[in-house]
Amino acid sequence: MERVAGMTEDSVCIVTGGGGPRIGSGICRALAVKGWTVVVADQNLAAATAVADEVRAAGGSAVPMVLDVTDADSVRRVVAATVAEFGGLDALVNSAGVGLRKPGAEATPEEFDRVHAINYRGPWTCIKEVLPVMLANGGGSIVNIGSVHAAGAAETFTLYAATKAALAALTKGTARDYGRRGIRCNIVHPGAVEVRGNEHLLDEFVATRQMLPAAVEAIDIGNAVAFLVSAEARAITGIELFVDAGTTAMLFSNGFTD
Ligand SMILES: NC(=O)c1ccc[n+]([C@@H]2O[C@H](COP(=O)([O-])OP(=O)(O)OC[C@H]3O[C@@H](n4cnc5c(N)ncnc54)[C@H](O)[C@@H]3O)[C@@H](O)[C@H]2O)c1
Repeated sequence: MERVAGMTEDSVCIVTGGGGPRIGSGICRALAVKGWTVVVADQNLAAATAVADEVRAAGGSAVPMVLDVTDADSVRRVVAATVAEFGGLDALVNSAGVGLRKPGAEATPEEFDRVHAINYRGPWTCIKEVLPVMLANGGGSIVNIGSVHAAGAAETFTLYAATKAALAALTKGTARDYGRRGIRCNIVHPGAVEVRGNEHLLDEFVATRQMLPAAVEAIDIGNAVAFLVSAEARAITGIELFVDAGTTAMLFSNGFTD
């Protein structure tokens, strides 16, 4: 793997949900290319190990760790193990997330709690646990993974969208609360990315719901994240960056005249 300059050669980043076959792994690969040491943190250890192995095989630096973002003790253990192994922690990417496809009022209380526990409370817990380390080091960078659904309504995505809109507010608030102390916090909103098994739906989505003709890939999300955590983005905080080939900015499909 050819390395290009990252923040510093010994920069360390935790990626929650880093074992994910789609966006999680794309983020880990993009960070490794930039020279980051990546802690691939996932509740699925086999998946995290596979991604860390893939990164190392390509010449990057990565270790797998077990993490459940809904369990504060688990998050604390990963942060402590990262600091013990690498001597610090420079960045956090909150990518662990789950979907929920139902009209909002038809979800059960258990479904409501689960999607909020993983998609919203989970990132909050991770931010809460990494901040003391970052503040003691003089700063750090956090990127949350939201969704285009944070920007508007698509039927049956109601509660998922609510978690991502809340995450966008948490992003801006964290940027505001800790900016003066060297913490940057931004959110990347992916469009439709590698919806495996649903290729025909993805083709239709690309044709009708994007400005650009190619599907967004996991590495596109990873590249945006790698930029935002890097020193090149030192003046950027509190932003929502849509990596969606134009989906969110599109108003109507053809056929509407006014
Ligand atoms: N795939 C898309 O089209 C898309 C679009 C917009 C936003 N997103 C967001 O991107 C992120 C990644 O989604 P993806 O669909 O690419 O999945 P992915 O392939 O990156 O996999 C998600 C990973 O999260 C892990 N995970 C789930 N619950 C966890 C928990 N409690 N603790 C730790 N790890 C946990 C899973 O084990 C899995 O490895 C999510 O936040 C999702 O909401 C995805």
